[in-house]
Amino acid sequence: MKKLLYLPALFILFQHTASGQDSKIAVRVDSVLKLMTLQEKVGQLNQYSGRVVTGPVNDQKTNMLNDIQQGNVGSMLNVKGVKDTREIQAVALKSRLKIPLLFSLDVIHGYKTVFPVPLAEAASWDLDAIRASAHVAARESAASGIHWTFAPMVDVGRDPRWGRVMEGAGEDTYLGSLIAAARVKGFQGDHLGGTDAIMACAKHFAAYGAAIAGRDYNAVDLSDQQLWQTYLPPFKAAVDAGVATFMNSFNTINGVPATGNSYLQRTILKGKWNFNGFVVSDWGSIGEMVPWGFATDLKDASLKAITAGSDMDMESLAYKNNLVQLVKEGQVKIELIDDAVRRILYQKFLLGLFDDPYKFSDAGREKKVMNDKTSYLVARDIAQKSIVLLKNTKELLPLQKAVKNIVVIGPLAKAKRDLEGGWIVESDTTKVISLYEGLLARAGKANISFIKGCDISGTDQSGFPAAVAAVQQADVVIMALGESFEMTGEATSRADLSLPGVQMELFKAVKAAGKPVVSVLMAGRPMIFNEIAEQSDAILYAWYLGEQGGTAIANVLYGDYNPSGKLPSTFPRSVGQIPLSYQVYNTGRPVKNPKDIKYKSAYIDELNSPRYAFGYGLSYTSFSYTGLTLSAPDMTQDGKVQLSFTLKNTGKYAGAEVVQLYLRDLVSTVVRPLKELKDFQKVMLKAGESKVITFSISKEKLAYYNHDLNFVAEPGFFSLMVGSASDDIRLEAKLELK
Ligand code: NOJ
Repeated sequence: MKKLLYLPALFILFQHTASGQDSKIAVRVDSVLKLMTLQEKVGQLNQYSGRVVTGPVNDQKTNMLNDIQQGNVGSMLNVKGVKDTREIQAVALKSRLKIPLLFSLDVIHGYKTVFPVPLAEAASWDLDAIRASAHVAARESAASGIHWTFAPMVDVGRDPRWGRVMEGAGEDTYLGSLIAAARVKGFQGDHLGGTDAIMACAKHFAAYGAAIAGRDYNAVDLSDQQLWQTYLPPFKAAVDAGVATFMNSFNTINGVPATGNSYLQRTILKGKWNFNGFVVSDWGSIGEMVPWGFATDLKDASLKAITAGSDMDMESLAYKNNLVQLVKEGQVKIELIDDAVRRILYQKFLLGLFDDPYKFSDAGREKKVMNDKTSYLVARDIAQKSIVLLKNTKELLPLQKAVKNIVVIGPLAKAKRDLEGGWIVESDTTKVISLYEGLLARAGKANISFIKGCDISGTDQSGFPAAVAAVQQADVVIMALGESFEMTGEATSRADLSLPGVQMELFKAVKAAGKPVVSVLMAGRPMIFNEIAEQSDAILYAWYLGEQGGTAIANVLYGDYNPSGKLPSTFPRSVGQIPLSYQVYNTGRPVKNPKDIKYKSAYIDELNSPRYAFGYGLSYTSFSYTGLTLSAPDMTQDGKVQLSFTLKNTGKYAGAEVVQLYLRDLVSTVVRPLKELKDFQKVMLKAGESKVITFSISKEKLAYYNHDLNFVAEPGFFSLMVGSASDDIRLEAKLELK
């Protein structure tokens, strides 16, 4: 654990080694730096929040505009729109050196166009669609004065009690890494500096998703191997994709706050990974090192944060009020300050703000981009792809023409704001298509009636009799149930993951009437809903799908879009199983038969298996997997083996299947999980069509972080598994690494 200790002596400073353009900018950066006073340098490291508040208010702030004019602010978060950003930028341009501000915002799943929440998008396993969604968000943000989004959140999340699983890509490191790269590229486009690209920010560095007991802002205790194997790779993928910034994190890791963690920020990020962008703290996280008991006061916290590699202070005012003094006292070397300032100025130059500080604040472009009539199609496309079909008894779905009377029941059937999901920039519920509206538009001559039945929360069951009465006339009942949008995101950890309020009671009362029930579940996390899973005739997990949600759901219900989503997270049966991922270990006492668990690694009151496994999701068609071959039974460390098989659409509808490659290292120096995802392909096939699918196996897929944190592939046997879900393996082979 000593590697995680706070290491004040370790300075890895900013160097631009890359292209000619980089060094040209570096020269310009230095020319500005030479003109700056110490006070002005520290000013660049200070970030203030504007009107929107996304954290505890800091009452130390006195005169924000005056601070900007004095050159004491480098960036503002929570200011948006051409009008406001222009006004505030104009104040910055009155400062002595006229250094432009960076405007940043949490553009998490869309700016004007509201996309599905990130966890939902991850269920699409469609990297192009995810990139396209981030790109629209960037184009809209960049047209309205924003230079920088605090996204993507690339924290691996294996605890659905943690409300922030909604903002990430789920539980898997491999899938999460690919999605991290896709989102970074979507936000930043081909290069920064264009007017349709904004800086991305990989957050929260690191391991925030492993907060103990799923409680937000909590401590993290993690082995170095877990950190390297599971939690760091998506951040590395973001660096490789060219991410401009990082945000550190509220949590401690093995006792050291991430914000004051030299090992993470200097040794790994700026050292080993050679990250040339800058690191912003999380909201007040420099100051929070005081209540954590890691720093005595804000001055000590500033010393520890800047030393550890936190370049910009979001909302603690710790740097602003202490760094000048710390440098004067010789406690902080000026080189450290210069390094942080260089990193920030570099990005300002790269964006083109020194040439035109108002480049992103153009009223004409703002109007045009916000009224782009094609963006909603991008949102609809990914909304459809994000829906996961969990159950479909007797092919109830897609709904057939014979279905004439549909009764829609539940508190989310007409919901609009909830469909948008948490953490959006501009809620415009007039644009949102509810499930009910989507159905009305699609259902043709069928009669659609609606009964709410109950609220999302609360105990009122007075609407039940009307719901049960309405069901008598129904050919099919569609129940829209779930969480409200405020129940996921930051500061929304839940200890109970069942449906809030009396929704389960409503479901049971309706189901007892004996009609076929399709449950459409909406939430930003995996919920626990065992009776619904057992008793519904069909289930769609529809997350929060954004403004096109109702149309997307109706298209899936009617088969205009054949569902292809796969779960990016394990769905537990009980809270007691959490944390639960598909990456479980065999243990020395594996359960072979759930009826025989004495002295086995099991629960006496619950199964080990999840309700729905990672990678699970049905289609209206079916797929067969046959004829697995390996190009060779073994390979050397620099060799490659091709794994091939035939995928066939054996059903009656065209559809897409996400074929998944898992492997297990059968005997290793450090015990490996039963399965780890190593590759996948999303394959579209017409009814009856087949295709040979090939995965290439090389050392990287076989390797893992050993005790010495070396990424090694150990000679021996590996089990290669191909399937439709982590618990639905269709083909298997053994490979030997020589
Ligand atoms: C705190 C959150 O943890 C972070 O993700 C967000 O970007 C900042 N607040 C700014 O709103």
